[in-house]
Parts: sequence; C-alpha cells; structure tokens
Amino acid sequence: MAARISVIGTGYLGATHAACMAELGYEVLGMDVDAEKIAALTAGTVPFYEPGLDELLAKHVASGRLRFTTSYAEVAGFGADVHFICVNTPQRKGEYAADLRYVEAVVDGLAPHLDQPTVIAGKSTVPAGTAVRLAERFLELAPAGAGVELAWNPEFLREGYAVGDTLRPDRLVIGVASERAEAALRDVYAPLIEAGTPLVVTDLATAELVKAAANAFLSTKISFINAMAEVCEAAGGDVMQLSEALSYDARIGGRFLVPGLGFGGGCLPKDIRAFMARAGELGVDQALAFLKEVDAINMRRRVRMVDLAREQCDGSFLGKRVAVWGAAFKPNSDDVRDSPALNVAASILLQGAQVTVYDPKANDNAAKLFPTLAYADSALEAARGAHVILHLTEWQEFRELDPEEVGKVVSQRRIVDGRNALRAQRWHEARWTYRALGRPVVG
Ligand code: UDX
Repeated sequence: MAARISVIGTGYLGATHAACMAELGYEVLGMDVDAEKIAALTAGTVPFYEPGLDELLAKHVASGRLRFTTSYAEVAGFGADVHFICVNTPQRKGEYAADLRYVEAVVDGLAPHLDQPTVIAGKSTVPAGTAVRLAERFLELAPAGAGVELAWNPEFLREGYAVGDTLRPDRLVIGVASERAEAALRDVYAPLIEAGTPLVVTDLATAELVKAAANAFLSTKISFINAMAEVCEAAGGDVMQLSEALSYDARIGGRFLVPGLGFGGGCLPKDIRAFMARAGELGVDQALAFLKEVDAINMRRRVRMVDLAREQCDGSFLGKRVAVWGAAFKPNSDDVRDSPALNVAASILLQGAQVTVYDPKANDNAAKLFPTLAYADSALEAARGAHVILHLTEWQEFRELDPEEVGKVVSQRRIVDGRNALRAQRWHEARWTYRALGRPVVG
C-alpha cells in the first residue's frame, strides 16, 4: 500500500506540497480550517495563481489520490506516515517577530486526536527554537505521547516555480531529534534522493536556521546590488553593466543580482525581520544588525522610484495620470503581499495623481487591498493618457510590447523601468524618455 501523507495548511506552500506528494505516488489528505479553500481544492481548482499547479491538482483529485478536509479528527484518523505542517507564519502586527499562532493552532487542534505513533514534519518558516517547544506540546497533549515525533523540514520553493522547485529541489534539509523521524522523511523523499537531490540531515535548530539564513543571504544579495545602484546613480555609472561584470565571477554569480525595485512578497521581508527579532532574543542581535540595513536599502528603492516618477511628471503628481504595469510582488504570481509595485502605486495616488494599474494575474487581489487605485484590463488601456508609465513587475508580456504602439495612446512618452527588464534602446529609438533605477538617463 502506498504511504500516506497529510498536509495541514493549503496555501501556496501546502497546496503545492500536497499535489506534489500525490504526484510522487502517495495517498494525500490536505487539511485547512478555511472551508472555502477546501471546497475549491476538492473541486480540483487552485484558489490562487501558480503555473502548473492547476493541472497537477486536478489530475490527482480525479485519480482519488488527493483529498481534502477541514477536520483534524479525520487527519489524525487517516493514518499518515508523516503529517506536514504548512501553515503561514506572518509578521506580528507592530513587531518584527513572527506570529506563530497558526502553527500553534495546528498543534492544539491535531495533538488531542493523535493516539497512534506518527511523525510530524514542520515546513513553515519558524524562529529557531520553535520545534523543540512544539515537540514538548505534542508530548503534553497527544494520547500517543512520545510516539509522536517532530521533525523540521524547511521549504525553499519560489512562487511561480513552486511545482518544479518541489519536485526537483536544489536540496532537502531535514532537522530531526530521532532516527525514526529521519527514516520516515528519508522514505517520503526517497524518489527525490534517488534522483540525486542533496540531503542535509541536521538537528532541529539548524534546520530552522537554514531557512532563515537562506532568505537572509538572498535578501542581502538583492540589497547589495541595489546599494550599488544608488552609488551608480550618484557617480554616473550603469548598475546593469556593473551587475553583468560581477556575475561572471563564479564566486559571486548572477542570480539574485538584478537591481531594481527590490524584494517583497510573503517571505523575504518578514523572514529577515523575524530572524533579527529571534537573534535579539538569543542575545546576538549584533550578528544580524546588517539585516536592518538590508531592509532599509530595500525600502529606499520604493521611495526612489516614486521620486523618479515625480521627476517625469515635471515635479508634481497633481492632475497627472500615472500608469503602473504590474501589481504582483514578482512575475508569474498573483501574490500581492508586501508588493513593491503596489506600495509605489499607492504612494503616488496619495500624492495626487490618478493611478491606473494593470497586472496580468493580480488585478483582483490588488483591488481587494487597494480599492482606491484604478485597474485596467490591459497594459495599453492602463497607459491611455498617461504622463508616465511605471514598469514595476517584470511580466514577459510587458517586454514584448511595441514602444511605438504604446506611444500612440499616452500623453507623453516617458517610462520608468523599475525592474531593469525592458530593452532601453528600443524605447529610446521610439522617442521615449527611458529612466531606470541605477542607470544614466536615456533619451
Ligand atoms: C523566496 C525564496 O526565494 C524562497 O527560497 C523562499 O522559500 C521564500 O521566499 P519568493 O518569495 O517566491 O521566494 O520569491 P523570489 O523569487 O525569491 O523573489 C523575492 C523578491 O526578490 C521578489 O520581489 C523579486 O522581484 C525580488 N528580486 C529577486 C529582486 O529584486 N532581484 C533579484 O535579483 C531577484
């Protein structure tokens, strides 16, 4: 009989993990307290945009290998070899620290039903020390007592590439406190390990820290190049050429070295803050003090973008029309959590411009968060009558637009590329003023 897996929490991470586990051949039960989400998933529909996930989910719901429930009792009775915890850990309101209430709710909801030995693997991003604390709680609350073993198995998937990243990860990290937990997770991931995925087995705290460290490093790399963009602007250099030149150094590499509006989303910003908060609690706040600067550089990019846009509106947004291309925090996603694009759009709106946003997938989510912005159904429609276009999320379709065609609908041919992703020369040739963060004026 195929092994059984349960996945608790069916957001970006959990829904993807559940469908991918079914793809690996397991019987999977997904659980969420959100009945609407569960109804959609049961009908084979993914309630958010993630390329390739719709097909995978529909395939395994149809095959009967993947089911969903809102009941902890059913999850416990499913007899899973491993229960994965995939709920979110947002930033606490008004603080840097992570809000662990959803993870804790899973433990409190599930534990009283666990009367058989089993392994729980946490995938949510949590501060170091959380797993040990949760393990104690399972011991206290679960009828199976010490038979319930907790492991931590951080997830590194990127939104937009979630399916590929789950089925072909760069590495697997499993933090364990017992041989049994290690064996159970090695079994679950056997197909990936056999395919050559590197596996690092650690203690619980190290596994928790790997995730925080990875996100801290990635954020630092992005803010490093964005700091270079600031210096380039002051010195008259071109940060795109600088970045290219750095990228050929194998020790540096070109990934996550694209200068622009900086990082956003549901992970990097809140994870570096939670990491700093935890370091403070551990008495090593100095070790991560640099992350404050990483955060500050990142937030400054948004302010600089608004300044560049204002310059292109001849010094004032009053009475001006601004087109914003992109609302998602990055392309191939409809996620608008801490989206730099929306942050810029909303600031400009508050400064008196009429702002029209277009995103290929995220208009609806953006409108829920910022109903006072105007939304258009296409890039051209958003651009109609604009005094300046701001390119803030680098969807492929924006790269393919013809500057000449766009030029026919705007009030003036001015564009600011917040992602350094458009071909400056093409826009220049079509008589546009093209500005970008960290680059000299073109046009
Ligand atoms: C990130 C991590 O990559 C992933 O490993 C972790 O599990 C969760 O957080 P994700 O939030 O999906 O994943 O987005 P990612 O692709 O990492 O991009 C993060 C942000 O950085 C985006 O806003 C993106 O636009 C920005 N970015 C990325 C840059 O500004 N420059 C770059 O060179 C790369």
